[in-house]
Amino acid sequence: MFIFDSGVGGLSVLNNIKKILPNTSYIYMLDNQFFPYGNKGEIFIIKRSIKIIKKIKKIYPIKIIIIACNTISTISLNILKKKFNIPIIGVLPSIKPAIHAKQNKFIGLIATPATINSKYVQKILFQHSNYNINVIATNKLAKIAEKKIRKNYINDADLRRIFYPWIYFYQKIDTIILGCTHFSILKKEIEKILKKKIKFIHPENALCFHIKKYSKMIIKDQKIKKNIFFYSEKNYQLIKLMDALKKYKFKHIKYINLN
Ligand code: DGL
Repeated sequence: MFIFDSGVGGLSVLNNIKKILPNTSYIYMLDNQFFPYGNKGEIFIIKRSIKIIKKIKKIYPIKIIIIACNTISTISLNILKKKFNIPIIGVLPSIKPAIHAKQNKFIGLIATPATINSKYVQKILFQHSNYNINVIATNKLAKIAEKKIRKNYINDADLRRIFYPWIYFYQKIDTIILGCTHFSILKKEIEKILKKKIKFIHPENALCFHIKKYSKMIIKDQKIKKNIFFYSEKNYQLIKLMDALKKYKFKHIKYINLN
């Protein structure tokens, strides 16, 4: 199984997959060279994801790909599915399930600017414009999640700046669609800053459904025997990540040249 994200958000997806398939081996790609993707254009994101998948596919006999990133999935999932002849599962913001959950009346959607501006999200928001979903597009929250996982200091003021529309103008929001895999890492911090209990709607729920669908095939057809972690840039922040990676039992943590 190949799991891919610009950063550590995909690890929260991996946690969920491990619950369903505890004995599966995986290759994780962290494209830290170009993190964040959320401020990049469509063409860049499409080309980059094709490049990464091609490269990994050349080296390893991957049978299934998990795009553990809403930014990539909203923009390029359909293109990637057409281009590669193996199952590809993406994570997409769960806007419709949030609307259909009866008890939720005040819904907020938070995601990267690239995700919010994607045709996929814009179309769903337009189709459901009578529900008044309040949207925050931010590049900063994924960066804060990267800090948290490295045990770096998180400044409440930075969080308050991101969430100010929901702190000052839309205080009724009680349901938040997490449209970025990084944000699951920050649920406690979000509740603290909004000073209330929040119902979080995760994209992982739909993903788990698809994983279950393919689980037999994944278990039966395991060609990759060791967990491997790839990164695209060596830097100091990467060293700080090593502690958090321990629990994923990566046999190899190595650099991959994607230039
Ligand atoms: N984890 C990615 C997502 O789900 C976004 C982070 C980024 O901006 O690269 O959208």
